[in-house]
Amino acid sequence: MHWHCSYSGVWDAATRNHGDQRLSAHLNNCLRLKGDKNATRTHRAAPSLREGLKSTGKGRSYRGPLSGVLRLTTAECRDYKAPPAELADVPLPDADRGSVVDLFCGIGGLSHGFVLEGFDVRAGVDVDETCRFAYETNNLATFYEKDIEYLDGGWINSLFVPDTPRILVGCAPCQPFSPYTRRSGEDRAPEWCLLEHFGRIVREAQPEIVSMENVPRLAIADEGRLFEGFLADLDGYEVWAKVVDCADYGVPQMRSRLVVLASRIGPIELEEPTHGANRRRTVRQAIGQLPPIEAGQSCEEDALHRASRLSDQNLKRIKAATPGGTWRDWPDQSLVAECHRKHSGRFYNNVYGRMSWDDLAPTITTQCYGFGNGRFGHPAQDRAISLREAALLQTFPPDYALQPPDNQPVIAHAARWIGNAVPVELSRAVARSVAAVTTCAEVSKAVRPAREAE
Ligand SMILES: C[S@@+](CC[C@H](N)C(=O)[O-])C[C@H]1O[C@@H](n2cnc3c(N)ncnc32)[C@H](O)[C@@H]1O
Repeated sequence: MHWHCSYSGVWDAATRNHGDQRLSAHLNNCLRLKGDKNATRTHRAAPSLREGLKSTGKGRSYRGPLSGVLRLTTAECRDYKAPPAELADVPLPDADRGSVVDLFCGIGGLSHGFVLEGFDVRAGVDVDETCRFAYETNNLATFYEKDIEYLDGGWINSLFVPDTPRILVGCAPCQPFSPYTRRSGEDRAPEWCLLEHFGRIVREAQPEIVSMENVPRLAIADEGRLFEGFLADLDGYEVWAKVVDCADYGVPQMRSRLVVLASRIGPIELEEPTHGANRRRTVRQAIGQLPPIEAGQSCEEDALHRASRLSDQNLKRIKAATPGGTWRDWPDQSLVAECHRKHSGRFYNNVYGRMSWDDLAPTITTQCYGFGNGRFGHPAQDRAISLREAALLQTFPPDYALQPPDNQPVIAHAARWIGNAVPVELSRAVARSVAAVTTCAEVSKAVRPAREAE
């Protein structure tokens, strides 16, 4: 059994030491030199710390901060003095399960589920360079800042490990299909073409497995033509597609997602729900253990446990709000926003609402940091949920790093990354369903003839 844990220290070229010589020998899979933008790259294959430094172009002359991810055996974990909580239970990737490339990877919600299920996640592609730190640090995979429109199947294929099942996953931007973005039937969103490029890349690369997630409304965009076009690109695949309730898979949220699974190596379907009606995870289970903070404050131990400020008026409103209630229940109706008093505003029941401890959270959106943007009030504290709470409700692990430790996150940026993500627990269910296909004996023979023959 191997484990991952993140590491940071200072590399001193003169002594070739970075604090703990013994650990330096293991810092061999993901190496990041902070303070030098050009050298900020991940080095999966570097066999040693020295090789890693060389491949950054810095050789042994580099002095400065260093952080990365260690892979330790269980025995080495015992020797390591750090508290066990710092060691994440992440298995080493098992090449037989398959290698994964993630299109529109963001900060890696979708990739991380595959990492936690033991897949070799090789790379993520996204136009948003600000996602690089989180993606690479937590997933030991390379982030490519590229526009999917200009990629071809040959390049995507070069990213997979040879002779392993190739698994192409992706979640194109959801906003163009979201119920919050209203457009008429004739009005084609420019982003729709990104799904078409995903389909084109599938046609060109012909990976063994494809998985696509998005909001359910994608299926009816352009009167269903867009989705039908994507399904047509899966010609030759066995396809499973359904709208899934994420709460059924341990996500403590009201969130439905369209999931498509496609396989060229045998039938595939999403596994049965792991968290049926009586086993739903609640807001309390997800965020109840975090230390209290106030609106506008962040927690000293965790910069991501940070809540946005509230105006005096909104502070009065959140004090009036009860868990699960609406602004209609407020004793002082003068606090109700002008726009909600109008007929058209009376439908927005959830804004300025508080979550309930023992219920699901609402869908965590890119706007989840604002009390006025939905039911994003904390169940008991007078503030909107913090970024860490939003990440936990999206089932990211509690130590999922979004920024280097010395950086304060910009709330709106971090909320966009988090709200856009595929919940990690949904992604794990997808990954387990893929493993059920890729690890079956018949498939092994078909996909790995060279290795079987050895
Ligand atoms: C729904 S989010 C993906 C979330 C991600 N799968 C996760 O689980 O964290 C969509 C992503 O597509 C990216 N994107 C938008 N246009 C793109 C393009 N033309 N090429 C590559 N990525 C693009 C956005 O930057 C955004 O991160």
